[in-house]
Amino acid sequence: METKIWTPDELPAAVRAIKRGSLVAFPTETVYGLGADAFNEKAVGKVYAAKGRPSDNPLIVHVADPEQIDAFAQRNEWADKLIKAFWPGPLTMILPVKPGALSATVTGGLDTVAIRMPDNDLTRSLIREADTPIVGPSANTSGRPSPTIAQHVYHDLHGKISGILDGGSTRIGVESTVIDLSTDVPTVLRPGKITPEQIEVILGTDVEAGQHAVKADEVPKAPGMKYRHYAPDKDVYMVTKDEWTQAVIWAQSQLDPVGIMLTNDLIAEHQLSEMDFVWSLGPDADSAAAKLFAGLRHFDAQPNINTILVAKMPETSANAAYNNRLNKAAGGQDVSELLED
Ligand code: TXA
Ligand code: MG
Repeated sequence: METKIWTPDELPAAVRAIKRGSLVAFPTETVYGLGADAFNEKAVGKVYAAKGRPSDNPLIVHVADPEQIDAFAQRNEWADKLIKAFWPGPLTMILPVKPGALSATVTGGLDTVAIRMPDNDLTRSLIREADTPIVGPSANTSGRPSPTIAQHVYHDLHGKISGILDGGSTRIGVESTVIDLSTDVPTVLRPGKITPEQIEVILGTDVEAGQHAVKADEVPKAPGMKYRHYAPDKDVYMVTKDEWTQAVIWAQSQLDPVGIMLTNDLIAEHQLSEMDFVWSLGPDADSAAAKLFAGLRHFDAQPNINTILVAKMPETSANAAYNNRLNKAAGGQDVSELLED
């Protein structure tokens, strides 16, 4: 199958593809998603096959309007408040599914469903014109960094999907906050741009920041959290601000080049140049989140680079999403492991 890259003008071709049960990658404000008609079980099945995704890991259903939820999920008061405050936007809500409304292929057989309304006009038009909610996991091969430009999607999935709706680079760069509203206490299962504190203000109740590390044999609340999202052949290490002096000395003393990903202030402070294999994370934590996955892919593509050092951000609530994705990419490895002797 030839995979097309469609410009926004070519939206009708993407709409036709969704309607006939084919796969279409779409842009959002977080990362690109891999879309299929949520009510077409066969189409949804193709999503798992294309990504190589374990079938016990359920999908997010994307809607163009809040009212679209009512066909398949049970809204509650919390949901209504959060919709008003944060949609369209990077917040995914887990709600009870209406019995029989969605196939187990979408929900992984759970009695809940993950739902979000993305902040992207083109993609909301796609959903509206296809006249159906659209499932959308991140449009990467399972185990690779999530895609933040159409070319990342093409790299991973060309030949396996009908096309990619090209909306340029995504603004936020890390996946949405996932909050479970089907439980007694609202619980954040995956950190994202929207923090538990922001949600508490809107709900007027305590929110559990429940993204604890899930062991391999444990049944996780967000099934996806147990998988290492990015398992590169390269070794990724986290570096805190005060470790950079030593880390740079270490990198410059290696025979093979070492990829270095850090913010502009640190690039200046340590006088790094092109020759140091630098990927800039931009000026601040927001730009770092937007550029993290692209940087990992950049160095992944270079066969002579086996080690990547990446700046860890101060541990604030606002930085939790970035640090969480970096920690996954690094498999928990800190640069101190390299510097010890
Ligand atoms: O920003 C995003 O959320 C992107 C864009 C494309 O919307 N999508 C995305 O989807 O990151 P995915 O499939 O890569 O991540 C969905 C997460 C997984 O960790 C999954 O296990 C969890 O949501 N999830 C889905 N349905 C669930 C449910 N019913 N209960 C608990 N967790 C669920
Ligand atoms: Mg994903």
